[in-house]
Amino acid sequence: KTVFILNGPNLNMLGKREPSIYGTQTLDGIADLCRQSAQALGLKTDFRQSNHEGVLVDWIHEAADKAVGIVLNAAAYTHTSIALCDAIKAVQPLPVVEVHLSNIHAREAFRHVSMIAPNAAGMICGFGPLGYTLALQALASRL
Ligand code: DQA
Repeated sequence: KTVFILNGPNLNMLGKREPSIYGTQTLDGIADLCRQSAQALGLKTDFRQSNHEGVLVDWIHEAADKAVGIVLNAAAYTHTSIALCDAIKAVQPLPVVEVHLSNIHAREAFRHVSMIAPNAAGMICGFGPLGYTLALQALASRL
């Protein structure tokens, strides 16, 4: 059983990018954490990052055939992307757990809106990389 863990724009810069907000862990470090957390739950991970909205749409479609669920940190596209919203609806009932490293509700008003949340199984934000582990646990509990 494989979980797609999909990461959106600028998350390749983690470690260097605004460390006071996003911490010092790199995306490779988070991928390792996810692999370990998933293994303990009897799951495999397919961990990916893209800076391109359409690529993320394609991966959500691909997950319909290959994954038991998606952990999605759509980064800035969270707040803008009708295409990602529609892609998640297109693969229902495949569960999507929305993750953000930072607490988006404690930040600028434009980050308070999520195009993902209305169709997500749930949303975890504000706990840094731990959020990915929590999302995997949440998915495992639904299987
Ligand atoms: C983010 C929060 C978004 O608002 C932001 O655009 C990101 C990262 C997070 O993980 O905290 O790029 O998704």
